[in-house]
Amino acid sequence: MLLTTFFNALVYWICRPFMRAGPFQVFGNLTASYIDFCYATFYKLITNSQKETEKLIASAVKNGTGKGKIAIVTGANSGIGYDTAKVLGQVGYHTILACRNLELGEQALTQLTEETGRENFELMSLNLASFESINKFVEEFKERHGSLHLLVNNGGVCMCPYSTTAEGLELQFGTNYVGHFVLTNALLDVLRRSGPSKIVNLSSLASYMNAGIDRELVTDKSKYNQSRAYYNSKLALVLFAATLARKLEGTGITANSINPGYVATNIFQHIGLSAKIQNMLFANTVMGSLTTLAVVLDQQYANTTGQYFVRCQPTYAHPSANSIKEQDELWGFTEELIAKHSDRRSYGTFL
Ligand SMILES: NC(=O)c1ccc[n+]([C@@H]2O[C@H](COP(=O)([O-])OP(=O)(O)OC[C@H]3O[C@@H](n4cnc5c(N)ncnc54)[C@H](OP(=O)(O)O)[C@@H]3O)[C@@H](O)[C@H]2O)c1
Repeated sequence: MLLTTFFNALVYWICRPFMRAGPFQVFGNLTASYIDFCYATFYKLITNSQKETEKLIASAVKNGTGKGKIAIVTGANSGIGYDTAKVLGQVGYHTILACRNLELGEQALTQLTEETGRENFELMSLNLASFESINKFVEEFKERHGSLHLLVNNGGVCMCPYSTTAEGLELQFGTNYVGHFVLTNALLDVLRRSGPSKIVNLSSLASYMNAGIDRELVTDKSKYNQSRAYYNSKLALVLFAATLARKLEGTGITANSINPGYVATNIFQHIGLSAKIQNMLFANTVMGSLTTLAVVLDQQYANTTGQYFVRCQPTYAHPSANSIKEQDELWGFTEELIAKHSDRRSYGTFL
């Protein structure tokens, strides 16, 4: 829809002049957030997300998009990940719910089976905040399955007080981005073997909010800021998808990032937004999963790679994501972090 294209671009162009501009950045961010939120509210009113999802399901079933295929969704026990997994299962993907809390994962598995009447869901344990857990997950996955067609890097934490991963990395960057970096790299061999295959990273409007990747936010605890650390992790996910798209050109693997919009979920638990307020202001998780599902199931995006999607359309990504220099710097920084915090030098399988 043209109006959506216009508003997606407007939000970007409001942020754009402020992105590198220090003290005025907050002003740009607030203005862009306000306009984005107003349009999101209008978009919610004019979009029947249930109907759109049913359309995607119907065409995917007709085209056999998910038939005989395997998908992993991280953080699938709740929120956007749950609804994403549900639709993937409905269109035929054998869908793995990669969850850190197995009790919540079991509940989600039971509920998904009941709601869909299908048995093609599987629960596996994955804590993105632990390299050991990620390695174990990958080993078990490869023992159980010979192929992988879709990896949805959805799990995440938002604006929590300072904390660290099992290996001592700042928690938001460590979980949202580095955890998915390690997971994705370790699965690239099987994704490549199974091509065409897809990687989708869950980012956010937050990816527009910092000047670029801020290394000090990750390495210097005294610089920690709950919001900026979240922005940093969500921008890193956009750069990561763009880098993967570039490095994996011609391999049959596509990589994109998406912003799901404002969605009522548990992610806001550290900001103190009650469920009641969220339900009043934000979209539901059916709407929240729509952009991920469009990237995966909509035939027009079958070969799209290296893009950043908002409201089911590709739009402008933060300029850092288009800079090969900044992409490579982030990749190098990530490898350094992993080496420093583990006994593995690199998790890259294609470098
Ligand atoms: N909701 C929004 O408005 C919004 C906006 C922009 C972007 N996003 C992004 O959308 C994604 C999904 O979030 P959501 O809104 O659906 O929130 P959510 O319901 O809280 O889902 C987050 C999921 O991530 C899991 N998770 C957290 N830490 C993990 C770890 N260390 N290892 C494995 N899984 C972990 C959570 O597991 P537990 O249940 O065990 O905590 C949960 O299943 C996130 O990446 C978020 O940043 C959301």
